[in-house]
Amino acid sequence: MELKSVVPWGRSAAEYKRMFKLEFETFDGLKVLGVGDGPASFNAEMSRSGLDVVSVDPLYQFSREEIAARIKEVTPWMETQLFELADQYIWEEFEDVAALVRARLSSMDTFLADYHAGKKQGRYIYGALPKLPIESASFDLALSSHLLFLYDDMLDQEFHLRSLLALTDLAAEARVFPIVNRQGEVSQFLNATIQGLEEAGRKCSLERVEYRFQKGADMMLRINRR
Ligand SMILES: C[S@@+](CC[C@H](N)C(=O)[O-])C[C@H]1O[C@@H](n2cnc3c(N)ncnc32)[C@H](O)[C@@H]1O
Repeated sequence: MELKSVVPWGRSAAEYKRMFKLEFETFDGLKVLGVGDGPASFNAEMSRSGLDVVSVDPLYQFSREEIAARIKEVTPWMETQLFELADQYIWEEFEDVAALVRARLSSMDTFLADYHAGKKQGRYIYGALPKLPIESASFDLALSSHLLFLYDDMLDQEFHLRSLLALTDLAAEARVFPIVNRQGEVSQFLNATIQGLEEAGRKCSLERVEYRFQKGADMMLRINRR
């Protein structure tokens, strides 16, 4: 992956909690794997609160300085894109494009401030689906936010199935949000992926969540090992 092909853009822990219906009473040894977390502040914020989180992303091959410079470079372009595509979003979570950009930059600052320490502690690992560089199947929960199904014009059916089988080998449960692509249409690969997962002995359910931003994106896929 080349840095110039990367558009770093990360969400907050509060957004993750609502996208994935995370209602932990207590962390109590819970281990979470965030795949494709990129520059989201989920890992930084939740680790600070005591949750055991490991994030894996190809972005983590780059240094803090490289990622920070790339964020600075892409922000004006992202802002223009958001103005152009504003009618694809529900402007309640964020009042307008300016508020959204402020929130994303704040989350990414939190990530950048945590990145050095997190890498040393093994919380940010360079790797990519469908095969992650993790051996131990010791996770309780794996999360995929804004990667699977969203980019179904770039990632094929086999990639989706292999990735979700791998995630549910590593974790007892996986949750994916959203299940729509960038046009807000249910991904062309959703049904076949669910069928493949069920045939491989996984149990799948689609659940509505409270989080609302992209139009059409209000469902999460939950997958459990039987
Ligand atoms: C749209 S961003 C979402 C970031 C974060 N999950 C969030 O919701 O704020 C997609 C992320 O997926 C990562 N990614 C791309 N291909 C990947 C792969 N094959 N395996 C894991 N992560 C990947 C990108 O580097 C990027 O950080």
